[in-house]
Amino acid sequence: MSGSVLSVRDLTVRAHVDSGPRTLLDAVSLDLGKGEILGLVGESGSGKSLFCRSLVRLLPSSLLKIESGSVLLEGRDLMRIGDGEMLKVRGGEIGMIFQNPTSHLDPVMRIGDQIAEGIRYHQGLGAREARVAATEILAQVGFPDPKRQHDSYPHEFSGGMRQRAMIGVALSCNPKILIADEPTTALDVTIRRRSCGC
Ligand SMILES: Nc1ncnc2c1ncn2[C@@H]1O[C@H](COP(=O)(O)OP(=O)(O)OP(=O)(O)O)[C@@H](O)[C@H]1O
Ligand SMILES: [Mg+2]
Repeated sequence: MSGSVLSVRDLTVRAHVDSGPRTLLDAVSLDLGKGEILGLVGESGSGKSLFCRSLVRLLPSSLLKIESGSVLLEGRDLMRIGDGEMLKVRGGEIGMIFQNPTSHLDPVMRIGDQIAEGIRYHQGLGAREARVAATEILAQVGFPDPKRQHDSYPHEFSGGMRQRAMIGVALSCNPKILIADEPTTALDVTIRRRSCGC
């Protein structure tokens, strides 16, 4: 489709395990227009997370390989750009809320600094401005005392609060595309209902 922000064509990922290659994503194609929301539905293990991770070339194991296909972000094929350029795309152009926040937050880095780091890298702000921006984001995603909580570590928070921090990291650089891989699974039922407006 012309005018798509994201256009995926025939994306194929295989696992090269001892028993031989196993196709995990088999020629997946989709288009996402500006302002569109696209949901991926499938049973557990069907490859939803793997597809999201493949878009930004963050596969969970070196045994997995993107074999073929293209991922065009505004016409630029992310499967063919260099690693340095890909670093700028991750977070800056494509934000990612991972399914499991605990394994994607750095346990020894203060929660606010994890948000500020992206802001500094992608937007070039100084330490003080990035801290102010990160504190605002913490407030936006529902931290009740963001100034103080900025300096807390992930283990000091509940799973739901860590999920909010992960959402904060993903939102921090105003990405063109936000990938949300089951972003509310770590939230309790009442907050989940509030977040999805149902
Ligand atoms: N490190 C790995 N090595 C080999 N195979 C893997 C690896 N990680 C994932 N897979 C395989 O990739 C497939 C897709 O897994 P994925 O996590 O994307 O599923 P999912 O649809 O997100 O499931 P869920 O709904 O449970 O989150 C599964 O069959 C899984 O076994
Ligand atoms: Mg998943």
